[in-house]
Amino acid sequence: MLNSTKTIQSLRGMKDIVGSDSELFTYFIENSSKIAQKYGFSYIETPLLEETALFKRSVGESSDIVNKEMYQFIDKGQNDVCLRPEGTAGVVRHFVEKKLDRAGGTYKWYYYGPMFRYERPQKGRLREFHQFGCEVFGIANVYEDANIIMLIKEILDYFGIGFTLKLNSLGCKDCMPQYKNNLVNHLNSFKSELCEDCNRRVDTNPIRVLDCKNEKCQTLLKDAPKITNSLCKSCDSDFEKLKEILDFNKVNYEIDSNLVRGLDYYNKTAFEFVSNEIGAQSAIAGGGRYDRLVEYLGGKSTAGIGFAIGIERLLELVKMNKEQKEFLYIGVLDEISLNKAFEIAIKKRKTTKTYLEYTPRGFAKHFGIAEKLGCNIVSLIGEKELGNGIIYTKNLNTKEENNIILEDF
Ligand code: HAM
Repeated sequence: MLNSTKTIQSLRGMKDIVGSDSELFTYFIENSSKIAQKYGFSYIETPLLEETALFKRSVGESSDIVNKEMYQFIDKGQNDVCLRPEGTAGVVRHFVEKKLDRAGGTYKWYYYGPMFRYERPQKGRLREFHQFGCEVFGIANVYEDANIIMLIKEILDYFGIGFTLKLNSLGCKDCMPQYKNNLVNHLNSFKSELCEDCNRRVDTNPIRVLDCKNEKCQTLLKDAPKITNSLCKSCDSDFEKLKEILDFNKVNYEIDSNLVRGLDYYNKTAFEFVSNEIGAQSAIAGGGRYDRLVEYLGGKSTAGIGFAIGIERLLELVKMNKEQKEFLYIGVLDEISLNKAFEIAIKKRKTTKTYLEYTPRGFAKHFGIAEKLGCNIVSLIGEKELGNGIIYTKNLNTKEENNIILEDF
């Protein structure tokens, strides 16, 4: 038995999800799942632990995720395994393992759960984080790319999240190699001035240089050739069609020809949904097409596309919105209503920022204090309201007044 009395804490970059956070978490899962189901997706759960080779062959050995961030170890049976850093590879492994590539047809799955990346923790960047993702197999039509984008938009809209959609095309096996050659030729003219990581990237995966966060590299890259100017006919017409569908459906986007994504398996459409409200880690969702991934994992060529939302980042925005939206003031009109008001305030604080004034006062005084505190909703309760099972509520922004049934409040 250990005799140390030192308390044990959760690991760096890993968090318990509890209380109002867990309520929000399950609320998010329930509603995003419903939206994904409406789009024809069914639930899949794959193991958290997989063979390391799965991620080396899919996410790619030149990516930071595989190179630096995997929780990798040899298990007791001498197998090289790792905690999944993302969800796509496991779903593709299932698809190939069950020989669905040979069966043909289309398959749509959604999943959610923890992912593990040994990154430097900071705001919005954890070592254990959660994703909600969707993967589609067997549909090469660019309308499906638009469909996936609409699905993410519907989820973000449902939770009232503002975003910028960044869009790029990464070409295909016909146009990407030529583009890479052009890019390497361009980069070689100032290679020594690029950062150490980019020097390595020029040889391992040159397009990774494009999204380097180093300011000097970004300045050097301003005249770099753009992939969107080097697309073959088929990639170009798909990209144009995708933009047309999004325009027609009034989805705003920005073309970002430096958007290359941190995983190697993408081709054609690549996208990220970003928010400027959550700090440096601004990507709330990312994804794209991966038409060669099934082949990389030993299957028969099958088109694929998908995305994943970072749940912690999204919920941070939901919480910020809520806080900005509602600051509830609860006041009592007489002493005997304080017990009830106290009980109500405790419940409301689970979802809403709430202030409870303990001293009984008249309406006007309560409004004055609420305004000074910056509250935008005032709810008052006295003996009369208590007797009728209601609570008086006024929205200070809209001036709307209501008597709300206590059970509904
Ligand atoms: P990803 O861009 O690496 O894509 O991750 C998707 C989302 O997960 C990011 O946009 C971000 O919100 C969240 N995320 C990533 N790393 C962290 C972290 N360390 N802490 C907190 N949140 C994080 C993928 O994983 C692909 N599998 C998406 C995909 C599915 N592509 C096709 N299908």
